[in-house]
Parts: sequence; structure tokens; C-alpha cells
Amino acid sequence: MSDRVSIIEVGPRDGLQNEKTPISVADRIAFVERLIDAGLPKVEVGAFVSPKAVPQMMGSAEVLRGVSHLRGEFHVLVPNEKGYEASQAAGAKVIAVFASASEGFSRANINCSVAESIERFKPVLARAKADGIKVRGYISCVLGCPFDGEVEPQAVVNVARTLFDLGCYEISLGDTIGVGTPVKARELMRAVGGSVPAANLAMHFHDTYGQALANLYAGMEEGVRVIDSAAGGLGGCPYAPGATGNVATEDVVYMLEGMGIRTGVDMEKLLAATNEVAALLGRPPVSRVASALNAK
Ligand code: HMG
Ligand code: MG
Repeated sequence: MSDRVSIIEVGPRDGLQNEKTPISVADRIAFVERLIDAGLPKVEVGAFVSPKAVPQMMGSAEVLRGVSHLRGEFHVLVPNEKGYEASQAAGAKVIAVFASASEGFSRANINCSVAESIERFKPVLARAKADGIKVRGYISCVLGCPFDGEVEPQAVVNVARTLFDLGCYEISLGDTIGVGTPVKARELMRAVGGSVPAANLAMHFHDTYGQALANLYAGMEEGVRVIDSAAGGLGGCPYAPGATGNVATEDVVYMLEGMGIRTGVDMEKLLAATNEVAALLGRPPVSRVASALNAK
């Protein structure tokens, strides 16, 4: 496993969308700048969703405009055509639609069934194709749902195949509430990999039960080479009760570098970015690597 792995840093979006402490647009821009400088060129910076649903993501247009001069690839979430239009007005080049493998979470998160969400995404994908915009497709609850419990791998396969056929260049598989364990994660990647090439899959694992690194390793053994992570292990979804942060970027970088996989990330700079945002939030980072390095 010595080939390259691509990291998508989701801290400024997933990491901050569930925080009670408001973080200003200027601080969000500064966070993205530090992440880019640390060697993380692909950053999810915001979401064009209802401000009533997720007030933390208000100002995403300003954040996107504020980082557009930097060398990097900036992603934003888009749930429908209204969000697409707002993303385009702000100059987004890469967007992400987000579906669920389970009905309960789909309803709670985006107020519609899984099938209805796909219908909402169709015009977004058609317009993005015409406009030359890349679209990523998230699927939540791939290893369990806070409302429906167990999720059949086939349900994930079906949504993944549909999003891929509609034109998503990459399907990011979300363990939204971090309940997965390595054998299940491996079986899921194998099942989805039978319908969508592993080269077009990403792993988006929350670390609620401390399984994320082991699950990532299992997925890597199935050939998946894109990992979503958040600096400091920030994150959670306001519509997923009990969900805690994403796997921490510094934990992922430490594991990959230890395996001989070069990430291009400067750990010192990443730690500084992590500590800076932790100070704004008023609590230390939860990640193991940040704790270990900060104690030195
Ligand atoms: P709805 O209520 O069904 O939508 O919400 P609607 O079309 O009936 O509109 C209701 C109101 O929202 C209207 O405003 C619309 O204008 C407005 P009002 O007339 O009441 O003042 N609206 C919008 N405003 C701004 N931007 C928009 C937009 N669309 C409608 N794009 C909707 C449906 C999807 C909009 C809503 O449920 C929503 O915004 N949900 C967002 C949920 C969210 O952001 N969740 C977190 C991200 S997903 C996640 O974290 C999981 C992930 O990390 C992977 C994983 O971990 O599994 C990606
Ligand atoms: Mg997430």
C-alpha cells in the first residue's frame, strides 16, 4: 500500500457545522488558508443549505470568495437547485450533493425520501454538467443510521450506482455516526466496489466509537484511496443525534506516513491550524495525535 492517498479536508464545513460557538467568516477564511499552507489542497469550505437548518454555514459565499485567490480545490455542499444557484453566484467549481442510504436520516437531514432527493439532484447534476462544474456525491449512514439502525450494503450500492450514473465523479461513503467496524467497512467497500470503481470512491468516517482509522485501513485494503478528514477531529451533523467528529486529519496523516505513504502534509503547520481553531472554540482538539504532540 505504498501509493498515494488523497485527503479531502472537511474541517471548515463538517467540522464547524455543528458547533455552538459562532466562528466568523474571517476566522473561517484564515482556517482554510492555514490548511492550504499545511499541504491540504482540497478543502470543503462551506454549504449552500437553508440558514434555518444550519446557521453555522451562513456566510459560505463570503468564505468561498475569500479563499478563491488561493491555490486549491474548494468544495461546497449543495442540496438543491437553489443551493446550486447560490454556489455558482459565489464561483464554486466543485460541489457536493448529499444523499442517504437510509430513509430516516434522509427525512431528518434534508426533509425528503431518498428517491425524492435523487430527483432533486438530477437538475443540479444536469446544470453542473452544462456549466463544467464537478459534482461529488455523499451517501450518509452507510454503516448504520441513528433512526433506522442497521443499513443493508445493497441500499448503499443502489444509491452509489445511481449517483455515479448521474455524473458524480466520486462517491464519498459516510459513516455518519461512526458505528462501523473494520470487517463491516471492508465488506461494504467490496460491495460498493462491485458497482462503482474503487478509484471513484472515498471514505468519510466519523470517529464516534474510535473505529475510524481501523475502518479506513480496511477500506484501503479494498483499494479506496480518497479519505475525508477534519483537522482536530472536528465535526458532526446537527441531524445525526450522537454523532461526533470526523476522523482527525492529523491522525490520518500520522497513520499514512507511518505506512510509507507520503501525504505532502506539514504536521507542524497542521497542528498549528488545529490549535488555532480549537482556541476559537474554547476547547482542546480531540485528536490523539494533536494531544500527543501538544504534550511534547
Ligand atoms: P425544505 O424545508 O424541505 O425545503 O428543506 P424547501 O424547498 O421547502 O424550502 C424551505 C425554506 O428553505 C425556504 O425558505 C427556502 O427558500 C429555503 P423560507 O421560505 O422558509 O424562508 N431553502 C434554502 N435556503 C438556502 N439555501 C438552500 C435552500 N433550499 C431551500 N439551498 C433543505 C430542504 C435541503 C433545504 C433543508 O433541509 C436543508 O438545508 N438541509 C441541510 C441539512 C444539512 O446541511 N445537513 C448537514 C450536511 S450533511 C452531513 O453533514 C453529512 C455528510 O457530512 C456525510 C456524512 O457524514 O454522512 C455530508
Ligand atoms: Mg460528515
